[in-house]
Amino acid sequence: MAVIPRVGHYTKGPIVKKETLHFIAKLYHFMSSPDHIADALLNWFDRHGRKDLPWQQDRTPYRVWVSEIMLQQTQVTTVIPYYQRFMTALPSVEDLAAAPEDTVLHLWTGLGYYARARNLHRCAREIYREHKGQFPTDLAGLEALPGIGRSTAGAILSLAMHTRAPILDGNVKRVLARYHAVEGWPGQRAVSDQLWRHAEHHTPQERVADFTQAIMDLGATCCTRSQPNCSSCPLHDGCMGRQRGRQRDFPGRKPRKEIPLRRRWLAVVTRSPGEVLLEKRPVSGIWGGLWAPPEFNEEAAARAWIQDIVGLPGEDCRIDAPFHHAFTHFKLEAHPVRAHSGTNQADATAVNINAEGLQWFSLHPPPAVGLPAPVLRLLIKLDAETL
Ligand code: ADE
Repeated sequence: MAVIPRVGHYTKGPIVKKETLHFIAKLYHFMSSPDHIADALLNWFDRHGRKDLPWQQDRTPYRVWVSEIMLQQTQVTTVIPYYQRFMTALPSVEDLAAAPEDTVLHLWTGLGYYARARNLHRCAREIYREHKGQFPTDLAGLEALPGIGRSTAGAILSLAMHTRAPILDGNVKRVLARYHAVEGWPGQRAVSDQLWRHAEHHTPQERVADFTQAIMDLGATCCTRSQPNCSSCPLHDGCMGRQRGRQRDFPGRKPRKEIPLRRRWLAVVTRSPGEVLLEKRPVSGIWGGLWAPPEFNEEAAARAWIQDIVGLPGEDCRIDAPFHHAFTHFKLEAHPVRAHSGTNQADATAVNINAEGLQWFSLHPPPAVGLPAPVLRLLIKLDAETL
């Protein structure tokens, strides 16, 4: 009589471990599903892929690179107007290298994750200085540049240089994690290594630009996070996640952490007619390099600063309703501590404002420097008040 192996149960026959059964299932998948997904994906791309995104026109390394950096943490529909504005203002790597940092951060205002913009700027200067304005044409050369990781380098190589190189952005991780039923959160090294091996394996020699766009498009439009449309998916037959009815389990979720609340006080000092005092924030920390009202951990510290530095009585300050902003690691509750001085002629400041790294900016129109989105909203509100 044949012995039927059972997981974890004592039988007279051999005990088969869960890992062994998973291995057998993977082997079966490997043998029964198409070894490469490229042909099916490319056929799908010809009919359903996106072909008119702004960065797909005139695909130079510069245009692809800027789009990839903007798209790292931001949706396509949000990125499009930013991308178009950016390309109009700074159409080449030389233009970006020559631009002041404030201009670059201004063009990024509202996109968030401002380290991306600062790295973009540093990177353009490095390409201009060290590479005579030309992008390196190999993976190692691209990855050595600020802000360019393996996936962005792969996208530049495949989309703009037609060089075979895999990518692994969020959409591609989802497609591959589902197709191969890769367990675990891709933030873990072992999981991402496994996904990279699959990405490497599936990337074809031919039509590499179309393949790269196709796998990203499939993730964005069909193999979506919460509502995958498996019945119209070209990878339907070989997808292990679907075969197991576990599409939504892949990729594994990041372990949840409590998001702490940070309470801060902003010294919002205005003067007539319609000016506000801002400081450029240090590059480290949130909103690095952007202009914002000085920030304090305590209300009393904000009042004391207004008294000492600006020369306005701290007790004359008014506290406005707080605004909230969500960051990846914490939630900010910011309380504007408002103080207003008379006209700029009448304003006797206690110290030299410029020496403190502070600057008066006109509110109308808002200054063309990098501003955090909630600060821009605050300035628009101040402008609407009669100062
Ligand atoms: N996300 C990252 N790169 C992209 C691209 N080239 N097109 C659409 N979405 C993307």
